[in-house]
Amino acid sequence: MLIAIPDLLDAATLANVRAIIDAAPWVDGNVTSGHQSALAKRNEQLPEDGAAAREAGKIVLDALAASPLFFAATLPLKVFPPLFNRYGLGQTFGTHVDNAVRVQRGRDFRVRADLSVTVFLEDADRYDGGDLVIEDLFGEQRVKLPAGHAVVYPSSSLHRVTPVTRGRRVASFFWLQSMVRDDAARRILFDLDRSVQSVAAVRGNDDADVIRLTGVYHNLLRRWADA
Ligand code: NI
Repeated sequence: MLIAIPDLLDAATLANVRAIIDAAPWVDGNVTSGHQSALAKRNEQLPEDGAAAREAGKIVLDALAASPLFFAATLPLKVFPPLFNRYGLGQTFGTHVDNAVRVQRGRDFRVRADLSVTVFLEDADRYDGGDLVIEDLFGEQRVKLPAGHAVVYPSSSLHRVTPVTRGRRVASFFWLQSMVRDDAARRILFDLDRSVQSVAAVRGNDDADVIRLTGVYHNLLRRWADA
């Protein structure tokens, strides 16, 4: 399941993130790659233990924490500290699957990558190419969202970033371990959550069916969640 999170960063927050990362030194993106993806990846990245990545990453994490849609869609247990990359002219990331487990450098912190997140940090009309192409059961999904928007997709999916042909693509990317490991179970919970919210908006939170359905949501989450 692909889920777009519109306006994760507002304009002021986006500008703040860009000011921090644009002023920082960038390095070859292959410093974070596994062996297979290193063969396919040509981009630049902020050093993950650098001050700029930490500062900008904290801003992204704060925005995630303030997004009910992000929480409902991902049911996050552990979130890897956000990283930042950019693709200049001709740069690309060929088809790959993300590593199953991500270990934070120098720390005893590891995340099973259930979901991958990209936060777009450049206006879509300022670059050509640089599409995130994700293969799922319904074929290829091509994703290029406005700056400040995010997309969440299964880390198990084959995906790539097409070559940039004009301008520069700038993004934050990271992985998270969900409380609900199974993508299909998480999808059921997300659909139920959205429907309960819309029924509650009409009938009120104290409606007997809304209360029972809310109970169903939490009892399914109780069966499926690791916390
Ligand atoms: Ni990837």
